[in-house]
Amino acid sequence: MAKIIYIEHNGAHHEVEVKPGMTVMEGARDNGVPGIDADCGGACACSTCHVYVDDAWIDRLPEKDSMEEDMLDFAWNPDPVKSRLTCQIKVTEDIDGLVVHIPERQI
Ligand code: FES
Repeated sequence: MAKIIYIEHNGAHHEVEVKPGMTVMEGARDNGVPGIDADCGGACACSTCHVYVDDAWIDRLPEKDSMEEDMLDFAWNPDPVKSRLTCQIKVTEDIDGLVVHIPERQI
């Protein structure tokens, strides 16, 4: 299991153990973490699973592919460096301790 820490815009923390092979979006959805809507169910087609990756983790995640990059243009207030779509981040033991910040709103 890998611990993922989701921090809401209001500062509320959610520490969740997520099974490797799932995505960071599924970890939030299955554990009732609010603020990650994931309207398309993980198909990289909605941008409502957007988060800002904590500074300490930006370089430690696999890079975005072009599909994620394009879809992030539709996210609410995206940041060119910190923004990621959580449905595109696979959970592995390597990202144990990942911290993501949930935006004030999704679209
Ligand atoms: Fe729709 Fe991630 S859930 S883009």
